[in-house]
Amino acid sequence: MGFRTIEELCAELEDKRKASLDGGGKEAVEKQKSKGKGTARERITALLDAGSFVELDEFVTHRCTNFGLEERKPLGDGVVTGWGTIDGRKVFIYSQDFTVFGGSLGEKHADKICKVLDMAMQSGCPVIGLNDSGGARIQEGIDSLNGYGKIFKRNTLASGVIPQFSVILGPTAGGAVYSPALTDYIFMVDGESIMHITGPEVIKAVTGEAVTSEELGGAETHFTISGNAHFKAKDEEECFAQIRKVLSYLPLNNLDDAPFKKTADSPERADVSLREAVPVNPNKGYDVHEVIAKVLDDGEFTEVQAGWAKNIVIGYGRIGGRSVGVVANNADELAGCLDIHASDKASRFIRHCDAFNLPILTFVDVPGYLPGVDQEHNGIIRQGAKLLYAYSEATVPLITVILRKAYGGAYLAMGSKSLGADVVLSWPQAEIAVMGAEGAASVVFKKEIDAADDPSAKRLEKIDEYREAFANPYRAAERGYVDRVIMPEETRKAVYIALEGIESKRETRPAKKHGVIPH
Ligand code: HXC
Repeated sequence: MGFRTIEELCAELEDKRKASLDGGGKEAVEKQKSKGKGTARERITALLDAGSFVELDEFVTHRCTNFGLEERKPLGDGVVTGWGTIDGRKVFIYSQDFTVFGGSLGEKHADKICKVLDMAMQSGCPVIGLNDSGGARIQEGIDSLNGYGKIFKRNTLASGVIPQFSVILGPTAGGAVYSPALTDYIFMVDGESIMHITGPEVIKAVTGEAVTSEELGGAETHFTISGNAHFKAKDEEECFAQIRKVLSYLPLNNLDDAPFKKTADSPERADVSLREAVPVNPNKGYDVHEVIAKVLDDGEFTEVQAGWAKNIVIGYGRIGGRSVGVVANNADELAGCLDIHASDKASRFIRHCDAFNLPILTFVDVPGYLPGVDQEHNGIIRQGAKLLYAYSEATVPLITVILRKAYGGAYLAMGSKSLGADVVLSWPQAEIAVMGAEGAASVVFKKEIDAADDPSAKRLEKIDEYREAFANPYRAAERGYVDRVIMPEETRKAVYIALEGIESKRETRPAKKHGVIPH
């Protein structure tokens, strides 16, 4: 009998293991490094806890016989998959290997990704995709398209069940950008990441527009113009630190609790400087980040989509060690008005927090919706409705702090009592009304002003009269639309107490397949 010895069999396995680490070979690896990019495995090592990675499917190969591909069957088929830990918590991961057929996605490459997506769902753990790929593997034709389709389906089913992060570490084009777009967050790196549906050549041919790849779909573009990138980093190291940070606020899945982070920052801390943080004059701007930082544990706020739709600020922080999602109008940009992009940005974040059981802390200072033909014609009605929908639909604890202006429909949209806020707190300088004193007085007292000997003096007198009577938090407090009027320095403690009070909140809704969110 011609049995090989166990030593020979183990030696063969050893050789195969070594071969699976080769990727696309020395030359391709050197080319990758010369671009300042890490290899697929180096990236996994840099992101996960040391020594925690467990690899799957390192011997998988494609079964394509077109265009000579049958002669080239690199082990692993251009993607490294498995699981490991971040801060000791399990995550599933895939990392595309650009050195193998440009990281292109064929049938088996897609199957490997689908396997980790399925395992992540079954185990209730986040999944992180490191994307570095030339897109659909051209030689595999329709099988690669089918592979993308299977990934899209899984991303959608996993949405709201486990956190999904997409990290763009190379070119991503065509339909391939849609897997990242289906996940919770997209992370991009300056000078490395590209995302677009059609590239510069196709655009040039079809519309005649000349644009570079970087201008069209680089990190800066998606971070500041399109809003597609939620986080941007200067290099891979900073990007991985961002991923670890964001993950630290999130539960592993929708049935899990977010990690508690002990802090020496007392929930009772009263910061009197908050009195100066928001000017009493409603026409003056200020940076709402300062207010947010002064209220959260240790002044630590992790902003999401910081470069886009800056009139609204969203992100994570903690109060008394518990994660919260923060939504805040930013008076420094467009006077804090709500517009299409702001509604889009905030509503998705609210739905994300609601899906993962994070209470939402909203800071309100909003003069209204942004006026303009452009806004109306581009659908501020349906786009703005998303925000109403997101708050109304949310069942997590909702705490709202009205800092200053809260006018009209925008007052309602920003986590008002009417939409389901559990606790609404208000600062003494708040103006909660249908509109600002100037506009309101001009309408209500029009006849009196017009008939006066000095109409402009009369107008000013009436504005003051209106402001005194209505531009304050007490009319709303009388009705119970505001639960408590607080001093600015009491905010941290009041929010902490409110969170404690409604921590065990449960809300049930009538069974339905799903709502039809305005888009
Ligand atoms: C097969 C590919 C490939 C692909 C790259 N390669 N993209 N192989 N299918 N899609 C191979 C190259 O042939 C080359 O192989 C190796 O990867 C490295 O590629 P280079 O071109 O040398 O690298 P670089 O100069 O850095 O350029 C990278 C690139 C370029 C910009 C990604 O390769 C490129 O434009 N590729 C084609 C992109 C594309 O059209 N993809 C299909 C999109 S349609 P060798 O053997 O020479 O080293 C799509 C639809 C998805 O994705 C739809 C989902 C619903």
